[in-house]
Amino acid sequence: MQGEEQPKTISQYTYNERGDDDDPPTLSSHALAALKEFVEEQNRTVARDEEEEEVAEKVCLVAEDWRLSQFWYDPLTAETVAQEVIALVCHFDNTDSSSLRRRVACVACPTLYAYIKKVNPDVSVQLLEYDKRFEQYGSNFTFYDYNRPDDLPCEFKHGFQIVVADPPYLSKECLEKVVQTVKFLATREKPYLLLLTGEVQMDRAAELLGLHPCGFRPQHSSKLGNEFRLFTNYDPGTRLGGWKQDK
Ligand SMILES: C[S@@+](CC[C@H](N)C(=O)[O-])C[C@H]1O[C@@H](n2cnc3c(N)ncnc32)[C@H](O)[C@@H]1O
Repeated sequence: MQGEEQPKTISQYTYNERGDDDDPPTLSSHALAALKEFVEEQNRTVARDEEEEEVAEKVCLVAEDWRLSQFWYDPLTAETVAQEVIALVCHFDNTDSSSLRRRVACVACPTLYAYIKKVNPDVSVQLLEYDKRFEQYGSNFTFYDYNRPDDLPCEFKHGFQIVVADPPYLSKECLEKVVQTVKFLATREKPYLLLLTGEVQMDRAAELLGLHPCGFRPQHSSKLGNEFRLFTNYDPGTRLGGWKQDK
């Protein structure tokens, strides 16, 4: 066999002329482009997975039932109002030692209830709601029909330092009845009241509860035709876009 040319093996073709493998392997421009595309796709997949995990961490709500006038806040609105409520709770915790006292009533605003609990599960919050699907919140849920504004557990009377309400309808009659409930629930001394409803209720909100609009504009996941406002009975300072009180 001496002097005869031996058939080359695959590994010999990939080696350089010296027959060693010291030089780094190089890729053709096509292979490089394919590799780049592969790495980019991998990065996109990781980003997508992270996004999905974040969404899974978000609050899970039942589907809106428009027959019940259900329009859920968009995440920014729910988070902003939840943070405001928690800021008020912290204020009480710093000024009053009875931190186990019932704090917050959410009247017909289940999204807010869910976000407050997401931000701080320790805050004492009661949801008053007509839709019994929210019975999933156990003893933190109380059935509430605005047509029977005072038909509530007697231990709730003047038991809440913070009351947030979002009436199901924009009628005068509905607001008046919800206001009756808000007055039933709110502590006699310095309650913090927040009302989320249509801008058309501005004069009534001022007249019935001394509320004024904030700069912050609540938005809903389903786009609504009506302009919504957040009204409060206190000056939120620089929070919530300030207070738009007529001088
Ligand atoms: C305009 S939505 C406010 C929801 C709020 N935007 C949220 O995301 O939590 C009105 C709420 O009133 C509730 N509702 C409907 N009929 C009611 C009734 N007869 N009495 C009290 N609440 C009622 C709905 O189930 C709904 O949660």
